[in-house]
Amino acid sequence: MEKIGIYPGSFDPVTLGHLDIIERSSKLFDKLIVAVLINSGKKALFSVEDRVKMIEDATKDIPNVEVTSFDGLFVDFAKKMNATTSVRGLRAVSDFEYELQMSQINRHMSSELDTIFLSTDIKYAYLSSSIVKEIASLKGDIKDFVPANVIPLIEDKYK
Ligand code: PNS
Repeated sequence: MEKIGIYPGSFDPVTLGHLDIIERSSKLFDKLIVAVLINSGKKALFSVEDRVKMIEDATKDIPNVEVTSFDGLFVDFAKKMNATTSVRGLRAVSDFEYELQMSQINRHMSSELDTIFLSTDIKYAYLSSSIVKEIASLKGDIKDFVPANVIPLIEDKYK
């Protein structure tokens, strides 16, 4: 049976930290689905369509990665996609409590779904989509933080 992993997130926008997790976890599965959360309650900089497209562009050289969006409960979507393993990156201890809670509640709701955590590469340990947006809004250089295809899209937002 095909082994399918799923990496959910907001990805507003995708960073080099996310991309590192995508590259590394894609090697662990036959297929890795990157699932962008459609969250109407949260004010996002990019539309879900833009976020999906920018991840597709950034991962075009990884053949077993598929990018899509979802709403509703993550466990329901994972089941629908036949994914058995959820992937999340851990940057620091501060991520741990929320991530552990999320993995435990997801496992309670869907006992077939396990979560694995990849520790973020140390060079991206301080990186987050929010910090990238703040730097870009203040006209700082973001080239070390996001895939090249994302740079003009963010710059355009803060023109
Ligand atoms: O990149 P983020 O914002 O840290 O990702 C959070 C995400 C998308 C993984 C989480 O909010 C999620 O799975 N939301 C979907 C709704 C859901 O299933 N909630 C219950 C489990 S937290």
